[in-house]
Amino acid sequence: MRVAMIGTGYVGLVTGACLADFGHVVTCVDKDPAKIEGLLAGRMPIYEPGLEDLVARNVREKRLSFTTELAPAVRDAAVVFLAVGTPSRRGDGHADLSYVYGAVREIAAAVEGFTVVVTKSTVPVGTGDEVERLIREVRPDADVSVVSNPEFLREGAAIEDFKRPDRIVVGTEDERAKEAMGEVYRPLHLNQGPLLFTARRTSELIKYAANAFLATKVTFINEIADLCEKAGANVQEVARGIGLDNRIGSKFLHAGPGFGGSCFPKDTLALLRTGQEHGVPLRIVEAVVGVNDARKAAMARRVIAALDGNIAGKTVALLGLAFKPNTDDMRDSPSIPIVLALQDKGARVRAYDPQAMEEAHKTLSGVDYRSSAYDCLDGADVAVIVTEWDEFRALDLERVKSLLTQPVIVDLRNIYRLDDMKRHGFRYESIGREGTTP
Ligand code: UGA
Repeated sequence: MRVAMIGTGYVGLVTGACLADFGHVVTCVDKDPAKIEGLLAGRMPIYEPGLEDLVARNVREKRLSFTTELAPAVRDAAVVFLAVGTPSRRGDGHADLSYVYGAVREIAAAVEGFTVVVTKSTVPVGTGDEVERLIREVRPDADVSVVSNPEFLREGAAIEDFKRPDRIVVGTEDERAKEAMGEVYRPLHLNQGPLLFTARRTSELIKYAANAFLATKVTFINEIADLCEKAGANVQEVARGIGLDNRIGSKFLHAGPGFGGSCFPKDTLALLRTGQEHGVPLRIVEAVVGVNDARKAAMARRVIAALDGNIAGKTVALLGLAFKPNTDDMRDSPSIPIVLALQDKGARVRAYDPQAMEEAHKTLSGVDYRSSAYDCLDGADVAVIVTEWDEFRALDLERVKSLLTQPVIVDLRNIYRLDDMKRHGFRYESIGREGTTP
């Protein structure tokens, strides 16, 4: 099957490469010539484990190609995926659909024969109707079916998530489109990945409801963590104790510095806007957004408290900058408000992240970037674990102790055991657990 993928961001590139790996012939289109040039030369615009190999293999097999020319790719395709960005519009939190509509006009002008236009970009309820209207406006004669097919990939585990999905949601009531989408996902379906057909608006809402629910789960456990600290309980054990109940489930119950990334913050805001437009208050989501923003802003205070308030002139070593491991994505990362607040209080900030330092450099200034975790800790007054990269999980604690001027660790991801920290004589402050003192 011939597929055109419009947009080679994280979603477009991963989806395009995975569909090519299933045997479809995929052309990825992007307006940015530098990006396409890079991809043609085998350079990935993002860091995602396994992606470079997957792309190289499918380019070699001639199933995957890259171009800036939208029209020929669309003309030849039976299915055209829209995977352009829908960032938060400045000021009102609404999803900015200008890239989507821009691409739709171009697609409409280029389609030939029956074509399924699939919105993979995260778009508010009703966008599919508007896409359809636009296509009819530009090309009243076009034989097109507009489908919603949200993505549920996690950065850092995107290929695995694509190949082993919990479900594939397809929003269409058109039989021809159902058949085409069944064909696109046949390899996954054969693999037991359930294909859930819904009405288009329902499918659009499923995406936002899923992300808002997961963001709520994370925020819930974060607040319980705050309570654990005051009440002398352990949030990891609470999470385990509730998560073993199948109705609750154990995933997304890791307390931390608050959610970030390119999805939860943007999608929760966009869902609130949708609620407002329909006159339906979404008070839980509203609270989640407020609580999470306040949480990220408060994380630096934990570092300052671990140094008994004496932060000015101190050197803080941050381990991890990305919003989560296995990505270089810095969007809405909790590390950003932490760095800004610490610098504001007169601390010197150093950092090491296995992948995100180049990205961080674009957002943060005055940070001393180091080449390894130990280099970062050497001579620092406090270590702060911000992102739970695997390589931070088994640091040589005696070496860490000898490198720091004083044995103080603030762990915002709970990746160490309290008894180990106590045994090695650290002052160790984590999330939702009792602190240890040497
Ligand atoms: C999220 C969803 O998990 C995907 O299903 C969805 O497709 C994607 O958004 C999207 O809309 O594109 P992602 O943003 O890559 O994926 O990252 P997650 O793994 O969901 O983590 C989001 C944030 O929550 C991170 O800041 C992470 O550190 C935090 N988190 C997650 C916790 O603090 N605790 C947890 O238990 C889980």
